[in-house]
Amino acid sequence: MSENILILGLQWGDEGKGKIVDFLSEKINAVCRFQGGHNAGHTIKVNGKQTVLHLVPSGILHENINCLIGNGVVLALDALDKEINDLKAVGINFDNRFFISSNCPLILPTHISIDKARDKDESIGTTGRGIGPAYEDKVGRRSVKLDDLADEQKLREKLNTQVNYHNKLLKNIYKRDTHDVEKIFDAILNYKHLFDNYCVDSQSLVNNWITDSKSILFEGAQGSLLDIDHGTYPYVTSSNTTAGGVSTGLGIGPKYIDKIIGISKAYTTRVGEGPFLTELFDQDGEHLARKGNEFGATTGRPRRCGWLDLVSLKKTVFMNSVTDLCITKLDVLDELKEIKICVQYNNLGEPIYQTMKGWQSITEGISNYEMLPQNAKKYIEFIEKFIECKATTISTGPSRDQTIHR
Ligand code: IMP
Repeated sequence: MSENILILGLQWGDEGKGKIVDFLSEKINAVCRFQGGHNAGHTIKVNGKQTVLHLVPSGILHENINCLIGNGVVLALDALDKEINDLKAVGINFDNRFFISSNCPLILPTHISIDKARDKDESIGTTGRGIGPAYEDKVGRRSVKLDDLADEQKLREKLNTQVNYHNKLLKNIYKRDTHDVEKIFDAILNYKHLFDNYCVDSQSLVNNWITDSKSILFEGAQGSLLDIDHGTYPYVTSSNTTAGGVSTGLGIGPKYIDKIIGISKAYTTRVGEGPFLTELFDQDGEHLARKGNEFGATTGRPRRCGWLDLVSLKKTVFMNSVTDLCITKLDVLDELKEIKICVQYNNLGEPIYQTMKGWQSITEGISNYEMLPQNAKKYIEFIEKFIECKATTISTGPSRDQTIHR
């Protein structure tokens, strides 16, 4: 029986979605991205070589899986071309199995300049990839879309309008260098092969897959707390990272999503700026960062680390209608004597913690729930009870077999 699964992060991204997507790949026919852009980063190993996927769906590593970049994704053609070439160089095939929506807005060099200039003042700590400005233009109804590569004259006209507008901002407001429209036009045409080889009417494609009872995996990027509407605004990304993004970012109704897997680390991390109530500035925080190897996959920035916040997790489980919880990086907590977990906020909005005893033994690699130390089970069960959702998957290490399924 076919089953369409949505997988998304319940925190600020980097929850370890890549490993779970990879694991589920055995049962699915297609993987679709529906939001974000090359701000995302999934670190994976291909033929022993470490690769970071930014735009290409993780399913690409499995020869028999189709991959689609949906209309909700903002597309940097140069970044995508590089990623495809790197993957082809290690033997990955893209022919007849990789598709991009004709409706994807393009990220232009001017978007990147604006993003970088603006972040100096607004200090969101963006990835500097032009994501926010590209989404602004989509909503502002002036985006150049992948489809525009079909007609050079139309492309030139649209580019002129958009880049001239950007240049005014860059020159007059941000006091930065402007860009040459013709250069951008030529650069885009350099990537015409991406349009020729992969551009499709993605809505029809997904529709056909569903009609043919194919199993689809919807692969979320970033995390729920970075959602433009429901996240820690304004310290968010510019897309809907929560479950609703699947419908808008692919053009399919919510009833086609059968299962929603929400991923949370056993603790919390965040890159970039913005509120983080349970953030740690002490030895425990340093320990989590070191043991969890908490550095951003896209920018290499150190991630801020803190305790798990169950008040926030309960909210993100609700807003995504999560059916299955997946807890990752449990083993990172192994050595701690005490583990705190936020169960409430006080009047000042500060976290109130429940302190639990650590297990101080190795869980790394455990794949059977019963083999977990008693205190680790207590920790998991406390989370499940609080958020009213079962942790059906628990990850105890980076490789595929270091996983508990319940
Ligand atoms: P932008 O998405 O580049 O506009 O950045 C906005 C915020 O989202 C910043 O705080 C980034 O650090 C954060 N962000 C964007 N992509 C990711 C991701 O894949 N993982 C974690 N944080 C991200």
